Order: sequence, then C-alpha cells, then structure tokens
Amino acid sequence: MNTSAEVIKQTSNAIPLIEVKNCTMEFPGVKALDNVNFTLMPGECHALVGENGAGKSTLSKCITGEYRMTQGELYIEGKRIRNSNYTIRESQSLGISIVHQEFQLMNEMTGLENVFLGRYETKSGFIDWKALQKKIEELKDFLEVDVNFNIPVKYLRTAEKQIVQLARALVNDSKVIIFDELTAVLQEKDIQNIFRIINVLKKRGIGIIYISHRLDEVFECCDSYTVLCDGKHINSGKVADIDKPQLIRMIIGRELTQAYPQINNKIGDTLLEIRDFTAPKAFRDVNLCLREGEVIGIAGLVGAGKTELVQAIFGNHELIKGKILLRGKEVKIKNPRHAIKLGIGFVPDERRMLGLNMLFDIKDNTTLPTMAMFRKYKIFQDKKAEAKAAYDINKKLNLNYYSLWQKVSKLSGGNQQKIVIAKWMLRNCDIFLMDEPTRGIDIGAKFEIYSLINELTKQGKGIIMVSPEMEELIGLCHRIYVMYEGVVMDVVEGERKTQEVIINSLLGVKENV
Ligand SMILES: Nc1ncnc2c1ncn2[C@@H]1O[C@H](COP(=O)(O)OP(=O)(O)OP(=O)(O)O)[C@@H](O)[C@H]1O
Ligand SMILES: [Mg+2]
Repeated sequence: MNTSAEVIKQTSNAIPLIEVKNCTMEFPGVKALDNVNFTLMPGECHALVGENGAGKSTLSKCITGEYRMTQGELYIEGKRIRNSNYTIRESQSLGISIVHQEFQLMNEMTGLENVFLGRYETKSGFIDWKALQKKIEELKDFLEVDVNFNIPVKYLRTAEKQIVQLARALVNDSKVIIFDELTAVLQEKDIQNIFRIINVLKKRGIGIIYISHRLDEVFECCDSYTVLCDGKHINSGKVADIDKPQLIRMIIGRELTQAYPQINNKIGDTLLEIRDFTAPKAFRDVNLCLREGEVIGIAGLVGAGKTELVQAIFGNHELIKGKILLRGKEVKIKNPRHAIKLGIGFVPDERRMLGLNMLFDIKDNTTLPTMAMFRKYKIFQDKKAEAKAAYDINKKLNLNYYSLWQKVSKLSGGNQQKIVIAKWMLRNCDIFLMDEPTRGIDIGAKFEIYSLINELTKQGKGIIMVSPEMEELIGLCHRIYVMYEGVVMDVVEGERKTQEVIINSLLGVKENV
C-alpha cells in the first residue's frame, strides 16, 4: 500500500522518523496489533484513528518502548532498533515523547517538578531551580498558556494538567511527539492553540502522531492518516485525498447513518431546582431547573465552573449559599453517598480517579453500585443475573473486551469510559449528572450513548450534561446553560440553539436583543 509517508519518502528521499514493519502485539488473550505497518516522516502530522480498542495506544507504546512488540521491526531515523533492550529511557534519548491518554503526573508535585522529573538541570551538584523556572516561562510563552506551574498538579483542572503533560513532552527536544487524545480534555479555543503549536513543530521538522476521536481535527491539522480496526491496519493515505464520510467508513466499516435521536417531548414535573448556588472561586448565583424527561446541557470554557457546579449538586463541592430542591422539597446534600441515596447518579470527568476501581474486573465495576438489585430473598447474591446485566449493558455500549472478569486497567481508555457510563445506567437513578460522558469515545459508540440518554429521558429521568462539544449539546439538550467565569451568561433553547449564540456567550459576549 502506498502510504502518504511513502509518497513523501519517494519524492523527497527523506529518511522516515519512524518506521514500524509488521508489528504484532499480543497480550494474554488479546491480539492488540496484528501485522501493522506505520511510517512517520519529518514535518508530518499523522493521524492515527480507529474505534475504542483498535490498538492506537498500543502502537504508540510500542514506539516509545513501553511495550515490547511480540513480532515486527521498528526503525528510528532509518536505524533498526533492537527489540530486546529498547526501553522508554532509550526512546526518550532518541527524541521520542508522548502525551499519554491517561494522566501520568505526580499529583503531589508541582507542574514544574513534573515537567523536569528525571532531567533536572544541576549547578555544582544542586538543582538549578532558577534555570528551570526560566525554561518554564519560555515554554509558557511558546504555548501561550496561563497555567500555574508552581502548585501541586492535584490542584489543577483537568485541561491544565493536560497542558503540563504537553510541556513535559516539549521540553525533551523531541523529534517525534505522540499526542494520544491530547485534545479530548480541551475546549475549542485551546484546541486551536494546539493546532498553532503543531504547525510550529512541523516547520521545525518534528513528526507528530495525532490520535483523536474528533475527526474534524484530523481534517484541520493532519497531513496523513492511518486507520486501525481490531488491531489490523485498514488503510493509510493523505488526508487531502479523503473526506469525513470516507474516513468514518474506514473506521467503523459502514456508513454512519445515525443522527441525533428525536429529543423527547414528554416532559413531566420538576425534578431538581437549584437556587442561587454560590461557591467561592467556582460559580455564583446559579439558578437551574430540570424536569422529568429533560436533558439540560452546561457549556463553558475551561474555568467557567461547569465541573464544580455538577460536583456541588452531587454534594462534592462546598457552597456558601444556595438551595437544592428535589421534587419541590428542599434537601441538603451532605456528600456523594447522600446524593446517590437521593437518586442522583454521576459520571465524572476523570474516570481513572473517580469513576473506576482499577483493581476490579469489568463485571464488578459495572454492577458495584447496583449489587443490592441482584439479591435473592435479600440474602443470596444472584451472580448469574448480575453478570447478565453487566453483559447486556456493555453489549449495548459495544464494549471491546474478551471477558467480564478482565481487569478494567487492561482496557483501552475509551472502553473504560464506557464502563463508567454502564454502571450508572444500570442504577435506577432519577437524575443523572454527566461530566463529559463521551470523552474519548469513538464515533459509533457515541451514538449508542446518545440513544441510551434518550431512552432514559423517555422513562422520565432527568439529565444534566457537561460537554465541550457544542454539536452534541445542540443535538441532545432541551436547554443549554452557558457559563462564563462562574455565572450563567445565557440559557439557550428553541431557535436560539445555534453554535453562534453559544459561542458568543461562552466568550462572555452579551447578545443585543
Ligand atoms: N496492558 C494490557 N493488557 C492486556 N490487554 C491490553 C493492555 N493494553 C491494551 N490492551 C488491549 O489491547 C487492545 C487495544 O487497546 P488500545 O489501548 O491500544 O486501544 P485504543 O485504540 O487506544 O482505544 P481507545 O480509543 O479506547 O483509547 C484492547 O483490546 C485492549 O483491551
Ligand atoms: Mg487509547
């Protein structure tokens, strides 16, 4: 097959930065990669796409030395790499960096410490903090970001942590940078900034492997693409030669005929009301109302207070003012356990930390909050029914796995997210709070989640959903609350539900009505 990189290779005689030949990677019971070929040229941004579990992260980890391929060859700048002693350290010294899909930061350390971890500059045996601080300032200027690198990263927002990871990859003087769903946690404005950075890096001859489920991004910033499906190499080529429907067809093996489901029009009583919700440094005077059968969306840039708001409804963020009314009755939600008791479910934005127990298997993670539902005569645990429920819901979400008794830590990122959603879907909650539920989910499965959300509304449940994707909010929500610097700037519904109106409010621009 003539990949675009091969075309560049033939025309420019340049040596590929990376060449992977016939790579196979087997885990016990899973062939994650099956005879895959991949080439990355200097100055090229190469999209690596495919459904959840297709093998994208695994291929990246074979390139960085984190995994040792079972079979195949790896060439870096034309030199054959000996598989047996290739490690992350060696790949770093050869100029390969990666921004991992899952955060790999030391939470107690500052951003600066995380960036330079393992490569501190020293002066007469002591760490030269001044020099490091200067380097960070230069990096911040280059990145055009305003993140505090001097506080422990545990205090940073998800998107800010991602910037720390990016800075860590850039400080390495890399020739190859792998972005494994870098933009999944970022907002449109930050993504545009990432594209700017990628263009600068490309001009310096750096090669980029760009993994993303947001296919519009592929067309905006990538030169070439490689599609994987179930560990197999489906196709490679130039992005300019294909369009989005063609790419989708290669990824999911069929046309994507689904559109957003018809928004439920059977609206019932008020489920939840929030009055004057105020939390210092997060949000203030927020009023919001959710009725049975409704999906309401929360939009806003990073730092607008969206995550804090849903966390507060779930009893997980301190308030200084405000009331919650559940079905008209005032309640004081003390903590998440109390919220769950009151019939509130929560899909958090950081699944590894908050959504899953990495030591447990798929079945336990799916049914843990609903164990009581599967008790016979209130004593015996009906294991069969429990496993069946876990099987059914995960099948609906098209989970890519081989056994329900497989540890979730061994699943691909997107498949882990599906389990977080599955576990709450099984629970009979009245209200679902979902913080970026489709983050990292492939395009086919996203529509499965949309129809599940729609089914819930038909049963009279209410959903509050935070999402960075405007198209998703417009397609699913009855109303969209747009937050700007902690206040609800606008509530968009009906004919006003357009990207333009929402963007204006996101940026704090008031509409002239
Ligand atoms: N450490 C591991 N042990 C066992 N199986 C694994 C391990 N890592 C990945 N796999 C399996 O390999 C396959 C490919 O996973 P990978 O993480 O590469 O997918 P991906 O394309 O990155 O998906 P996503 O879009 O969800 O991130 C999956 O079936 C996954 O369950
Ligand atoms: Mg992955």
